[in-house]
Amino acid sequence: MGKFQVIDHPLIQHKLTIIRDKNCGTKVFREVVDEIAMLMAYEVSRDMPLEDVEIETPITMSTQKTLSGKKVAIVPILRAGLGMVDGILELIPAAKVGHVGMFRDEETLKPHEYFFKMPEDIDSRQLFVVDPMLATGGSAIMAIDSLKKRGASNIKFVCLVAAPEGVKVLQDAHPDVDIYTAALDDHLNEQGYIVPGLGDAGDRLFGTK
Ligand code: PRP
Ligand code: URA
Repeated sequence: MGKFQVIDHPLIQHKLTIIRDKNCGTKVFREVVDEIAMLMAYEVSRDMPLEDVEIETPITMSTQKTLSGKKVAIVPILRAGLGMVDGILELIPAAKVGHVGMFRDEETLKPHEYFFKMPEDIDSRQLFVVDPMLATGGSAIMAIDSLKKRGASNIKFVCLVAAPEGVKVLQDAHPDVDIYTAALDDHLNEQGYIVPGLGDAGDRLFGTK
């Protein structure tokens, strides 16, 4: 079973409270999602492999560490995942970015894929699939299914708020995928929204409602 980690650093908890507030407007919501994503990237990248490199400091020759291993691609699930990309790129600026478009049918809560565009070498990259919300888990599972069909095998899923229901189905469907969230909330309501949650992440990020 992959790792499940709640990244509950005090700065992240504080910032999450800001965006959970229904009075938080689009500008601040966008800025704070970006900041949380950057802080999470620090922890999500903790197990990146290192290798020795020989360098010359102004004082002496020295063996130091440099990143090795697979290169990263960030894969936002559209739309709301877009809000997390720039924050992660601040820490991993050379990452490539692939996009997968998914929307949830409001009646059935079933996801539909409408867009898929990846860097050519996703099979050899470490992928960070990002979406602020893991609710029923349908969107994350379908996005990861699509990535695996195209050869991806090294996948971490990063969200801001997760429902226990979504974590369970995602772990069952993709036990090899590590899941990172800033908060594990209480439950899903009858409309499939996370409680207490932060509402519709896409609408809040883009001001569409
Ligand atoms: C939201 C969210 C996730 C999905 C989570 O997207 O950003 O992608 O719902 O729900 P699930 O776990 O039950 O699948 P939405 O479908 O509202 O699209 P949007 O980002 O374009 O608003
Ligand atoms: N998608 C959202 O944007 N918010 C939720 O609470 C659930 C799904």
